[in-house]
Amino acid sequence: MKIGFIGTGDITKAIVTGLMASDYPLDEVILSPRSKDVSARLAAEHDRVRVAESNQQVVDEADLVFLAIRPQIAEEVLRALTFRADQKIASLIATVTAERLQEWTRHDAPISRAVPLPAVADRQGVTAIYPEDETLQALFDRLGPVVTAKTLDEFDAYTTSGAVMGLYFGILETVADWLTAKGVPAADARVFLGKVFLELGRTAERHQDDDFPTLRKDHSTEGGINQQIFNVFSEKGGVDGLRKALDSVAERIATARGQK
Ligand SMILES: NC(=O)c1ccc[n+]([C@@H]2O[C@H](COP(=O)([O-])OP(=O)(O)OC[C@H]3O[C@@H](n4cnc5c(N)ncnc54)[C@H](OP(=O)(O)O)[C@@H]3O)[C@@H](O)[C@H]2O)c1
Repeated sequence: MKIGFIGTGDITKAIVTGLMASDYPLDEVILSPRSKDVSARLAAEHDRVRVAESNQQVVDEADLVFLAIRPQIAEEVLRALTFRADQKIASLIATVTAERLQEWTRHDAPISRAVPLPAVADRQGVTAIYPEDETLQALFDRLGPVVTAKTLDEFDAYTTSGAVMGLYFGILETVADWLTAKGVPAADARVFLGKVFLELGRTAERHQDDDFPTLRKDHSTEGGINQQIFNVFSEKGGVDGLRKALDSVAERIATARGQK
């Protein structure tokens, strides 16, 4: 199988890096020529990766084409390309429906969608796919767990909840700023907080039978300082603000979906 990517940015780099370290049976990866530094590095690092001369060449030579460009330019880029009826198209573009992609690519066969997280590079990602798709399941299975949404609503909800990555680091940034304002050297704050958050993630991974409220309570002594942080955060609107942020992304995705 030859896999092509239209768009060679962060998520393509992560998927290709993960695939190259996996036993997924592929003959070749063909990258679109933009983002030369990323594509050239991937091609230099892996024998089975090469950079095409044009987006059309990627489409012409690949059996499976991943669409990995930003939504804002997707229509323009895709309308300029001619896809073959017998090839498979899969989209990573977060907010564009399969119906619109079918229109832009003039492709009759169903287009599946996937939202992989960047940790697929280390084969430690998690990927939501919709609809059920054996090819994507087999491919992303090599890069971490796969969840298959049963409905588009469910897929959109996964997409929304996966958009907390910036928030995650924003929390670290906020606490680190607070620490450094108290006189802690920035490098020490970085090590300290990185480790605190890493081990919390590992704890959640190890204790799969404990739900998140249980883990929160297990990490919050009654009347203690951990409980105080969550309570004050919640009272000051932190939890509510997060719910509103999720709702706002869900609304954006629903609006984009309503455009077709
Ligand atoms: N990052 C994630 O974690 C993630 C996860 C799941 C899904 N996604 C989705 O994947 C898509 C790409 O995200 P990303 O984070 O990888 O974005 P990105 O890093 O900005 O990459 C976008 C790529 O598209 C290229 N590009 C721009 N115009 C092009 C054209 N005319 N033809 C071919 N390529 C072109 C860019 O090249 P230049 O640098 O040369 O402009 C860049 O390599 C988005 O739709 C996003 O929603 C991202």
